Amino acid sequence: MIAIASDHAGYPLKEAVKAHLEERGLPYKDFGSFNGESCDYPMQAKAACEAVTAGECDKALLFCGTGIGISMAANKVKGIRAACCSDYFSAKYTRLHNDANVLCMGARVIGPGAAIELVDVFLDTAFEGGRHARRVNQIAEIEAEYCGK
Ligand code: RB5
Repeated sequence: MIAIASDHAGYPLKEAVKAHLEERGLPYKDFGSFNGESCDYPMQAKAACEAVTAGECDKALLFCGTGIGISMAANKVKGIRAACCSDYFSAKYTRLHNDANVLCMGARVIGPGAAIELVDVFLDTAFEGGRHARRVNQIAEIEAEYCGK
């Protein structure tokens, strides 16, 4: 199950990605926005990311105007490794090397064609592990030090 969420600015891109997930037959849970009316991206990020850390969803796809604000909020949820990407290489390597569990994109930065390519490579690429696992564990150690175990 994939969690998806956006604010008003990210809403059109979320809807385009939803249609793509449906075409691929991938189940998703939509945490809103449901109508594109003005709303606050931190609350949207929180709801979707909590579904990931609770184990209800495997990954989340988040959208705002730039992808940046919603990624900043997502990364405050313990256990979330959110990457804001607008290019294919970054979307691929944040899975291979960072084991990112959340992909954030900006609807005012990239169009639906590019976004769908990023979504596909993000969802279809496995974490490489090895030396990268040590580094991801170090991220978790910093998180535990500053945010509690
Ligand atoms: C909303 O206008 C915009 O600030 C938001 O979507 C996002 O880009 C923030 O990072």
